[in-house]
Amino acid sequence: MESMTQVFLGLVLCVIVVAHPHPTTAETNGKELIKEVCSLAPNRTLCGQVLSSDLLTSPNATLKDLAIISLRVAARNASAILVDTKMLINDDKLDPHIQQGLADCKETILDAESQLEDTIAALMVDMKTDTKDWLKAALAAIDTCDASIPGDDDVLSVKSAGFRKLCNISISVIALLNNPAAKF
Ligand SMILES: *[C@@H]1O[C@H](CO)[C@@H](O)[C@H](O)[C@H]1NC(C)=O
Ligand SMILES: *[C@@H]1O[C@H](CO)[C@@H](O)[C@H](O)[C@H]1NC(C)=O
Ligand SMILES: *[C@@H]1O[C@H](CO)[C@@H](O)[C@H](O)[C@H]1NC(C)=O
Ligand SMILES: *[C@@H]1O[C@H](CO)[C@@H](O)[C@H](O)[C@H]1NC(C)=O
Repeated sequence: MESMTQVFLGLVLCVIVVAHPHPTTAETNGKELIKEVCSLAPNRTLCGQVLSSDLLTSPNATLKDLAIISLRVAARNASAILVDTKMLINDDKLDPHIQQGLADCKETILDAESQLEDTIAALMVDMKTDTKDWLKAALAAIDTCDASIPGDDDVLSVKSAGFRKLCNISISVIALLNNPAAKF
């Protein structure tokens, strides 16, 4: 009888442990989550800065919040590149081929920007594929811009390299969001 009680108690304890996974892993958000997500990033400082940049949302951010924050930062960066591109298009000293490339680049950035709000909306209702499509479109746009001016140290090459880093941060956050089992 004694041992039956022990077995029974053991089972009850076991069920309690299974039903309540370790609370810190289930509820990690905000600063702790950012630290975990960025532990895998090529540049942890940049990753931390980007994901902490939303003063309202970052302190308690979930993985989904972080995905949205990173997309918004990347989109702002793309907009800044667009401003530079427009200025270059008006530069009469540039070769017509380069200007044509810049005009194409401007169109592709505009397309990518117009997809952003759709992407964030899709993320909010847990649709998975659209975010990747936006990132792909944005990266293709930036490549077009980068390629429109030869060389690696012109203003667009430098800025598009920065933009790619930001996209990489979004890509890794979204990968974790789509596959939480891969988390840490
Ligand atoms: C990492 O990011 C920080 C902040 O943006 C920057 O100052 C630093 O130069 C970067 N480090 C590397 C190795 O790119
Ligand atoms: C974070 O969430 C906790 C509990 O949900 C709340 O008490 C706290 O005010 C929140 N902090 C921020 C900065 O929103
Ligand atoms: C774009 O991102 C890069 C970091 O990768 C940063 O150096 C640059 O200042 C950003 N530009 C804007 C306008 O946010
Ligand atoms: C982006 O990530 C890919 C693969 O994860 C890596 O090969 C590439 O160097 C990264 N690019 C930047 C600019 O960080």
